[in-house]
Amino acid sequence: MKQPKRYLITAALPYANGLKHIGHLAGAYLPADIYVRYLRAQKRDVVFVCGSDEHGTAIPIQATKEGTTAQAIIDKYHPIIAQNFNDLGISFDIYHRTSAPLHHETAREFFQTLNNKGDLITKESEQYYDEQAGSFLADRYIKGTCPNCSYPGAYGDQCENCGKSLSPDELINPVSTLSGNPPVKKITKHWYLPLDRHEAFLRKWILEEHAEDWRPTVVGQCKSWIDGGLLPRAVTRDLDWGVTLPDDVDGGKGKVLYVWFDAPIGYISATKQWALDNGKDWKPYWENKDTKLVHFIGKDNIVFHCIIFPVMLQLHGNILPENVPANEFMNLEGDKMSTSRNWKLEMEDYINDFVKPENGGSQMADVLRYYLTLIAPESKDSEFTWKGFQDANNSELVSIFGNFVNRALVLMHKLCKGKVPPLHTAAMNELDQEAIDNIKATKEKVEKLLEEYKFRDALFEVINLARIGNQYMQKKEPWIIAKTLDTNPEGQQLIDNCLHICLQLTANLAILINPFLPFTAGKICYLLKVVEKILDWENAGSMKLLSVGYTLRAPELLFRKIEDEEIARQVEKLKAAAIHKEPVAAPAAPVATPEAIAVKPEIVFDDFAKIDLKVGTIVAAEKVEKADKLLKLQVDLGFETRTIVSGIALHFKPEEIVGKQVTVVVNLAPRKMRGIESNGMILMAEDAAGKLHFIHPETAINNGSGVS
Ligand code: 2FM
Ligand code: ZN
Repeated sequence: MKQPKRYLITAALPYANGLKHIGHLAGAYLPADIYVRYLRAQKRDVVFVCGSDEHGTAIPIQATKEGTTAQAIIDKYHPIIAQNFNDLGISFDIYHRTSAPLHHETAREFFQTLNNKGDLITKESEQYYDEQAGSFLADRYIKGTCPNCSYPGAYGDQCENCGKSLSPDELINPVSTLSGNPPVKKITKHWYLPLDRHEAFLRKWILEEHAEDWRPTVVGQCKSWIDGGLLPRAVTRDLDWGVTLPDDVDGGKGKVLYVWFDAPIGYISATKQWALDNGKDWKPYWENKDTKLVHFIGKDNIVFHCIIFPVMLQLHGNILPENVPANEFMNLEGDKMSTSRNWKLEMEDYINDFVKPENGGSQMADVLRYYLTLIAPESKDSEFTWKGFQDANNSELVSIFGNFVNRALVLMHKLCKGKVPPLHTAAMNELDQEAIDNIKATKEKVEKLLEEYKFRDALFEVINLARIGNQYMQKKEPWIIAKTLDTNPEGQQLIDNCLHICLQLTANLAILINPFLPFTAGKICYLLKVVEKILDWENAGSMKLLSVGYTLRAPELLFRKIEDEEIARQVEKLKAAAIHKEPVAAPAAPVATPEAIAVKPEIVFDDFAKIDLKVGTIVAAEKVEKADKLLKLQVDLGFETRTIVSGIALHFKPEEIVGKQVTVVVNLAPRKMRGIESNGMILMAEDAAGKLHFIHPETAINNGSGVS
């Protein structure tokens, strides 16, 4: 593809209703930041926008909880979240707010343009209303039992227990969260975006044009939505908190834009504000086709960024995203992160415990960036453990990366009089050349992987280069040669060559690690006494980054070891803070029917051992045409992705099961169903009511793990 003229990178606007945790950081902000830092190092024209999402019912609900106003809530959390991102090195060009007048104007104009063009429709419908409070009950103002998992506290827009998106009408036994009363129904008029008109466009754009370059999990979720049938989506609400409708819109009084209509427009208003602040023109970023727009998000935002917002952009005459690299979720110490159960590690907490100068400083921000990238949930849910964090720091950052840089500097001071030694080409051997070649090869690999949004693989290559550096030094053993200099004076040339290469490699490591660990790159520049200009990407691969004879600073450790006690303290703190809610009132345990109890005839162990069971993740699901009961699934088994046809269509909607882990019989002979070859079988349990349940590990584990 031709190189874009400019880049516009967005990261999901977090709700300013509370502190954000490391799952948020790993999901959208950190990968976006790595990508942007890489583009900046490439000297590309790039703008990185983000900001607070300050509308929606989540804000006034938090205000009620804290006994204050919605305005006070956003004014409290916006600056803290912005500061937290800054402390962790997330380098937005602007961190804007959707409460800003510029945003309100921009969102209103957007709505007006679509409405005037006839791209919106209006409908009157009956919606839940709280007579005591005198207000309609949008989204989180109504609670009830989830029809999917029986959780009694599901909201009118989503069940936080199982993640399913809901509409208020789907809730069982709904009650108003304002008065606690059961609501009544009342007629109201709303504006809708008729997504059904745009199915052909979405099919072509996503399923044909981006089937290969978007992540399979993203394409899979989009396909399920499209195949499930697109319906008009309401884009207004009866609320008093949000962007009000334009004055001249008939019947618009007292209504605001739906938060998911105005929030993504926040990317545009943030770009406008950035342009104003920097004397630039915002329009090319949103209107010229030679701009590459990329949205970084978590998987719960896929439908909004891949289906709804693109339809809005298309209708409004804006460019569309080139990619939407959505991440899956990150669990914490064996459980889903949850604000309501207080099972989370907030950015603020990590910063207080590790990043404050007295506790380790910015290098510790890099340690978190390192571990979160290492376990990035790019293709499946992943797991943060404090032990894993400690191991990643101690055995990779300290023992491999930090150790290499430190040894290069220590030996240079000891064996080369504190100056960059020359390279004696006549004395070079294969090992020297191999090390030099590896630097160039790593640059190319990292570049390719970053362009494909494969951040964890890219980081692996950088650390691997440090590993190669250590091995090279170990094979060359300059400290041994130093002991023989009396009898072998040419040995100094070998020492010089080794340290010349190690020091140039160190400077290269600074360039390559910079997008991932910017504080570390800065510290290496300090130690090498070079300006940060050296970090320009075009310098990677060069063996002339440090001039011969240049004096360098005394070595300082890049990373400190993390002790067992620190880790134990964090685990304890997490457990102590957790709120142990009563388990969800599960439907009364069904009484087993005689059929369920009946046991099949005995088999021997060898019979059982023939069955190969493995864990996999459903990455795509769609209905099979003319077969009510069948779903065609794509299951990622770690070693390959297989098509499996499963008779579960009456029990699950395709979009609900994408991302779920399942147990698969992987050595069942292939079977054709409705012309589709099925390569395996998903294990299911059936309860007495005939409802099916997946059999899966308690927490996400690697796909391909055996089950026995
Ligand atoms: O899920 C969320 O936290 C939303 N506030 C994300 C909004 S992204 C964009 F549309 F602004
Ligand atoms: Zn649920």
